[in-house]
Amino acid sequence: MSTKQYYLGIETSCDDTAFALYRSHGGAGSAGNTDNTGNTGNTGNIVASGVISQDEIHSQYGGVVPEIASRNHILKLQSLFARTMAEAGITPSQIDAVGVTNGPGLVGSIFVGLSYAKGLSYALNIPLYPINHILAHAMVTMLDNPSLRLPFLSLVISGGHTHIFYISESYEMHLISRTIDDALGEAFDKVAKGMGGPYPGGPYLESLANTISSTPLKFTPPMRGNKDFSFSGLKTASLLAYQKNEHSFSNIDAHVALAFHQCAVASLTEKVTHGVNLARATYGHVSSMVVSGGVACNGRIIQALTAHSKPLGLDVFFPSPYHSTDNGDMIAYTTYLMDTSKSVAPLMGGDAMELNAYSSLPS
Ligand code: KG4
Ligand code: ZN
Repeated sequence: MSTKQYYLGIETSCDDTAFALYRSHGGAGSAGNTDNTGNTGNTGNIVASGVISQDEIHSQYGGVVPEIASRNHILKLQSLFARTMAEAGITPSQIDAVGVTNGPGLVGSIFVGLSYAKGLSYALNIPLYPINHILAHAMVTMLDNPSLRLPFLSLVISGGHTHIFYISESYEMHLISRTIDDALGEAFDKVAKGMGGPYPGGPYLESLANTISSTPLKFTPPMRGNKDFSFSGLKTASLLAYQKNEHSFSNIDAHVALAFHQCAVASLTEKVTHGVNLARATYGHVSSMVVSGGVACNGRIIQALTAHSKPLGLDVFFPSPYHSTDNGDMIAYTTYLMDTSKSVAPLMGGDAMELNAYSSLPS
């Protein structure tokens, strides 16, 4: 049983700087270890959490500029750490373990948080846990949905990823399917940018789509019959339809946004069917799916995936809106899970200092 109490999580893999502190209330707590049912034994809570967004800075460029993101992390880390300690009412010496995103993401941005985490690990002589950003996006859903159990399917729909994984009781991520080109969030962002909209494009396109109830525009869902995703064709078709505006709509951007959503939903639901069938054939029983990443905030997508999954025998779980986009809670909580898991060893001393950053997932 772990005697540790405070787990710090640091997230700087893209343009959001985030810290959080998870407080364990004691007891064994890892998914799969507690009662062999994948029960997380979530015996704790987040006691401090903060995110500093750079959306306004990158909005003027229509997307994240990696070097600007790294430099802003450097400017924000120390004040956000101090704020986190003050909010939790503890001193740094009370932190028992630190976890940090070491991939996937923008390497320059990850290095900033990683170096800070190494400094804390060294100065406080505490273990350092490298945390996979994508795994953390899925695991944090357990904080919002205590009935969720491992193993589950994880559909990640973010600015950088559109992947389906099977996540085992020991947190192993098995890739089921992935996009062969653009991620869904990336397609949202590029279509919004092409129509003169802001970054991030997802919320912008969603609110545009909500201004009308139907559209004659129709885009063909890509790669039908294939387990993998593709969104580059949908992006190009959307921008072409916007430029041509064959129906001379005064609100062509709303029509493109609605048709984009309809096509994205058709594609997501088809790939989920493939994904669950493949996972069941390979790994056996799967009855839950977690949908995470920034695009999981989208109301139409939430509704469509929930309705589609029921007849498949899949319960669908979404993180809260705060936990859908990048946040420190997901890193702090996953650090706690890793620390209480028998299958993961922490890094200490020289090993911690040599921890590297990775732009992509290990394949
Ligand atoms: O997970 P996230 O915060 O960052 C990473 O990519 O890791 O996701 C950001 C993405 C952006 O592409 C953004 O446009 C998209 O999530 N997004 C949305 C919505 N809110 C954010 N996409 C569709 N609908 C939304 N409401
Ligand atoms: Zn993310």
